[in-house]
Amino acid sequence: MAKLTWHGHSCFSLETDEGTRILIDPWLDENPAADIKAKDIEELDFILVSHGHSDHMADLIPLAKRTGATVVSTFELVAFAQGKGAKNGHGMNIGGGHQFPFGRVKLTPALHTGSIHGDDEGAFTTDPAGFLITLNGGTRLYHAGDTALIMDMQLLKGQVDVAILPIGDNYTMGPEDAARAVEFIEPKVVIPMHYNTFPLIQQDPAAFRDRVGGRAEVRVMEPGQSIEI
Ligand code: NI
Ligand code: MN
Repeated sequence: MAKLTWHGHSCFSLETDEGTRILIDPWLDENPAADIKAKDIEELDFILVSHGHSDHMADLIPLAKRTGATVVSTFELVAFAQGKGAKNGHGMNIGGGHQFPFGRVKLTPALHTGSIHGDDEGAFTTDPAGFLITLNGGTRLYHAGDTALIMDMQLLKGQVDVAILPIGDNYTMGPEDAARAVEFIEPKVVIPMHYNTFPLIQQDPAAFRDRVGGRAEVRVMEPGQSIEI
């Protein structure tokens, strides 16, 4: 088991039974939906970053520098973070997995765009990704990042216990496509994200739950809420 907490938008923290603290897509200080600020996080072991947009990594560099957490992302994004002073990094690429002390992380395809916030010279390009995380306890968690509905999600069928999917529309899948993603992936539990942060991505999570129907349990979380997975 692990404790999964939503901090609004795409930012989640995970605390494993073994005490490893992981933060996914750190956007807190400027995130209108966040329940905490970056300064509230005192200790951190790993930071997973799906892609370079500011709403997924605006707090990455200061957090990584202060806590010494290892940044896990695409090769280019990790190189960028290290160039900005985040000492510890582990670069990967889409389709590759690696065994970390807390479990295995595999980068999954995400169809989205790829600039890096803070890369003023445009020196780093990177493809957005999602994460398939198999915790040591056995729970398999998929954080899709920002993505369109893609056929590649069918490859995840049977490999996911908990799927965290964007439903906000405009920048990512909307509720209709996210419900189709549930059909593709067949997770036990679905958690919607990347909605209601600001007016452009306003969605009704109850309507998403209705669309999913009996295919999976939809857990609608509130920022600051934790669940055991
Ligand atoms: Ni994005
Ligand atoms: Mn985004």
